[in-house]
Parts: sequence; structure tokens; C-alpha cells
Amino acid sequence: MLDTSVPEAFDAIARGYDRLTGSNPGYHEHLRMSVRRMGLRGRGEGLRLLDLGCGTGASTAALLDVAPAAEIVAVDASAGMLAAAKAKSWPASVRFVHARAEELADTPGVRGPFDGVLAAYLVRNLPDPDAGLRTIFELLRPGAPVAVHDYSVADSVRARAIWTLVCWSVIIPAGSAITGDADIYKYLWRSVRRFDGAAAFEHRLAAAGFVDLRTQTMPGWQQHIVHTFLGRRPSSEPVSG
Ligand SMILES: C[S@@+](CC[C@H](N)C(=O)[O-])C[C@H]1O[C@@H](n2cnc3c(N)ncnc32)[C@H](O)[C@@H]1O
Repeated sequence: MLDTSVPEAFDAIARGYDRLTGSNPGYHEHLRMSVRRMGLRGRGEGLRLLDLGCGTGASTAALLDVAPAAEIVAVDASAGMLAAAKAKSWPASVRFVHARAEELADTPGVRGPFDGVLAAYLVRNLPDPDAGLRTIFELLRPGAPVAVHDYSVADSVRARAIWTLVCWSVIIPAGSAITGDADIYKYLWRSVRRFDGAAAFEHRLAAAGFVDLRTQTMPGWQQHIVHTFLGRRPSSEPVSG
């Protein structure tokens, strides 16, 4: 339920999104941790980075913070979330593009190769996560890293229990009070519960062609709940035929 209209559902909550994430301890710092874990060069001089599913720009700001000299292309399918992102102040090196992850091959403003891709809280929401990962793979320069930052609780009974507790005692009531919409927060709870565990997600990354796979979690209540899934496109690929 909700899958095909996830970006439209985000339109409805765009105005309250920053208030809610801002009250989630660690939200912004954890995004920066995921970017630092990508191991980008220096301050990002000469690098082109992609923020896929940029929303209101929280993940874009994390990329900019860690790699202030990089060129950043930030993409989202929700016009409302993107409008909230664009309303903020950004350097000329940051560009926003309205597109669905599924349509990037036909989106002129999002040409690879990129020197790194961050997908924060996106892949879980895609109708076909494997196709999304293959798209990311194709957009990367050989050797370049991907960081998929997301909730994953399937591998741990404790993580599932904490996730359910936090959702029903904090996220769903606060989200519906701030945005007037409880449905998307109930969807968030369900979508995380049914999403891959870390091992299964690493298999997905491997199937998409990524190598050097690593999974790291966050401190705070998000420990073993929010993860950075890291990989990179191989530097050289086997010649087929
Ligand atoms: C939970 S928000 C995360 C935003 C941001 N990355 C952050 O860390 O705060 C997920 C975003 O993914 C976008 N999204 C969902 N499905 C998408 C798709 N198929 N293509 C592009 N963006 C999508 C939504 O519109 C939403 O803005």
C-alpha cells in the first residue's frame, strides 16, 4: 500500500518534514556520518556527487558539509519536498532536479558519471529496489562509492521492538500532529518492518554489481536500526563475451 504514490504522499507532508526530522536526535549528524563513511577525497574538489531522494535537502546539506567543494546534483520525485529544498540557501554548486529514480536514464539534468551517490531513506520506498540499485550503479564512475542510508530492523528482535515503540509512541503521533497526516507515518513503520535485514540488503547490493560491501550502524536510539550500507562500483569490470 502507498508504494506507487510515495512521492505524492511526501508532497502532503513537505511543510512539516523539517520540523519533525529536526526533533529526531541525531538525524542530521547521522546523515553526515554516512557521507563521511563514503571516504570522499579531501573537501570534494573536482567531485560530482548525486543525492538521490534529496527530499527537503537534509541529505544534500550533509553532502555539502562533508564535501563543500563538490558539485552536487540533488534529485527528488516530490515537487513539494523539492520546493522546500529549493527555498533554502545553497551555493551555485548545488542543483536540484525533479525526477523519479526510475526515470533517471531519460532525465537530461542527471548525467553520470558521479564520484559518489547518497540515497538516504529512498531505496526502501522504491517500487523496485533492485532496479534502483542498478540505476545507481550505472551512474557511478568505476571505483566510486554508494551510501544507502536507511532503517533496517529485520535482523534483530530488539531493533524491531524499539522501532515499533518509537513509531507508535513518538513518530506517528508527532508526525500526524505536525503535518495532519498519520498515513505516511504508519506506512513508514510498516515499510521499515518489511524491509531487508542488513545481510539481505548486502545481497541486493552484490547482485547489482557493487563490491567492498560494508554495513555500519549509528549511535543513539537508532543503534542497529539506522544503517549506512556501503559499496562501490568495481574499478575495472570483467569484459563479457
Ligand atoms: C524520507 S525522505 C528522505 C529525504 C532526504 N534524503 C533526507 O534524508 O531527509 C524520502 C524522499 O524520497 C523521495 N522519493 C520516494 N520515491 C522516490 C522515487 N521513486 N524517485 C525519487 N524520489 C523518491 C520522496 O519524495 C522523499 O522526498
